[in-house]
Amino acid sequence: MTEVKPFELPDKIPMHVAIIMDGNGRWARARGLPRMAGHRAGVDNLRQVLEACVEFGIQYLTIYAFSTENWERPVDEVRGLMNILEEVIDRELQKLDENGVQLRHIGRLERLHPKLQEKVRHAIELTRNNQKLVLNIAWNYGGRAEIVDAIRRIVADGISQAEVEEDLVSRYLYTADCPDPDLIIRTSGELRVSNFLIWQGAYSEWYITSTYWPDFNREELLKALCDYASRERRYGRVPRPVSPK
Ligand code: IPE
Ligand code: IPE
Ligand code: MG
Repeated sequence: MTEVKPFELPDKIPMHVAIIMDGNGRWARARGLPRMAGHRAGVDNLRQVLEACVEFGIQYLTIYAFSTENWERPVDEVRGLMNILEEVIDRELQKLDENGVQLRHIGRLERLHPKLQEKVRHAIELTRNNQKLVLNIAWNYGGRAEIVDAIRRIVADGISQAEVEEDLVSRYLYTADCPDPDLIIRTSGELRVSNFLIWQGAYSEWYITSTYWPDFNREELLKALCDYASRERRYGRVPRPVSPK
């Protein structure tokens, strides 16, 4: 029998990892369970992925949890997802704070129920000085909406045409204080962007796995990191010359 070698942590670790946590519904269907059971399993899975991120030295983690398009789902599912966010804040906030996680939100908060908005704001305020890991929660997030919001604020601030540069646009996005994601992971095998970080991801490396999000564990993350470490990021340049022996 051939021995399967466990993955070892590579030297080159991405500073910022972003994840499209997809496949909760299919995970549930495969088990004959309702979709909400998949979303709950997805939330439970987040804890070990967060712990692994800290262990591996990742500094920024962005998770896509609810898109601007997800409002089109059945009312019960949307309500269920909003309830889950509220429950997670109630249940996990203290532990996240103790573990040094700094919570941030990216997206349009104003469409959420006022009570939920308040909980999110409180969580951000409470954890704002934590340094171990920055966790961006993309909730009611859309890449196009983000760019529209940035343009509106640029216009409102009276920025002149000559001042509009790429750096300035980046500073007007929800992710203003965040480096661009080095690695974007999408679970469940779909080969599309689904409106996620369309500006910031211009030069991110992509990693797609067929594993459904509730099954994406520490080992899978490690595998993604190894794959990332093996890549050469060229940013449009030619490959680095091989150094002579
Ligand atoms: C991702 O899982 C979670 C959200 C979009 C909220 P899905 O609910 O999209 O799961 P699938 O794609 O239907 O399997
Ligand atoms: C993307 O997944 C959004 C989240 C994971 C929150 P979707 O399941 O909504 O994306 P599509 O519909 O497959 O593109
Ligand atoms: Mg999906």
